[in-house]
Amino acid sequence: GAVELGPYRHYMQKEIFEQPRAISDTLEGITAITPEIFGDKAYGIFKKIDSVLILACGTSYYSGMTAKYWIEAVAGVTCNVEIASEYRYRDSVPNPNSLVVTISQSGETADTLAALRHAQAQGMRHTLTICNAATSAMVRECELAYITRAGVEVGVASTKAFTTQLAALFLLTLSLAQVKGRLSDEQEAAQLKAMRHLPSAITAVLALEPQIIAWAEAFARKENALFLGRGLHYPIALEGALKLKEISYIHAEAYPAGELKHGPLALVTEEMPVVTVAPNDPMIEKLKSNMQEVRARGGELYVFADADSRITSGPGLHVIRLPEHYGLLSPILHVVPLQLLAYHTALARGTDVDKPRNLAKSVTVE
Ligand code: G6P
Repeated sequence: GAVELGPYRHYMQKEIFEQPRAISDTLEGITAITPEIFGDKAYGIFKKIDSVLILACGTSYYSGMTAKYWIEAVAGVTCNVEIASEYRYRDSVPNPNSLVVTISQSGETADTLAALRHAQAQGMRHTLTICNAATSAMVRECELAYITRAGVEVGVASTKAFTTQLAALFLLTLSLAQVKGRLSDEQEAAQLKAMRHLPSAITAVLALEPQIIAWAEAFARKENALFLGRGLHYPIALEGALKLKEISYIHAEAYPAGELKHGPLALVTEEMPVVTVAPNDPMIEKLKSNMQEVRARGGELYVFADADSRITSGPGLHVIRLPEHYGLLSPILHVVPLQLLAYHTALARGTDVDKPRNLAKSVTVE
């Protein structure tokens, strides 16, 4: 094909390993936070809007969910996220002062385009897209745009498009915060520094691959898996479960860990691996008690913890440590081992990793 595989076995693996480059390309030239990085008219629009409505499908929807946590916490702006195929057909209450944000790798997903047009038809004129295809319909039809520079993504299961979307959405969060008077110069400098360090932080996470391969051997023999996360990392748990089901065909579900006792705990037995995204954030103690609930039912925990967290391996509790805790940007790091876990589990099961059955890279028909 046009894109060479090089030393990799599959495009998905290549694209996972390209993420440091994809993020650094996406952030290239960003030396300060300013709304203009989203277009000339962005300042006036950001000043005026009182909320954000994100519309997307699939993996792009999960980057939108992550952005909701950022936008509300950092910019103090109300943010709703809707699955495009739902939004386009439901009677909702249009808010002309809302910024409509579509997120799309391809820029051509039929439901996302239709949702955008539906919002516009209802009088929502302020639109922005985060898109990986500069000449796509989405970019043409939105007032503002930020083009991610993931490069061509061949694997049907999205990886580098997702992390570059997150980088762009974090920039959006900071720009909104600035316009709303919630970003000091010190915070701006600190966040820019953290963003610049992302490529090397991701490279360090990619070095965990051998440990993840060992876990994948155990996963390959399972038919079900549960993913848990809280807060900013709940959408990352959802994305981890989606990756696993898409390419390994293992049934996987994700829950915000606080919901365990409202249903999924009934599924937990020795046969149920429970993947837990456990960054060392203010929710860690709550998460640990959720983990105990799983252990008490015999569930086997596979935990992605941060270097400085006090979670240690024991019977039925496996831990892989990420090199550092990364604050607000932590979801960008924590999704990477989940991508690798799905990839290596699929490899062990012998599925067609880059072209999973029944799925398409870009869904341009309804
Ligand atoms: C398909 C792909 C997914 C992708 C989704 C949305 O289902 O297989 O990887 O997340 O479409 O695509 P988009 O191009 O709009 O991000």
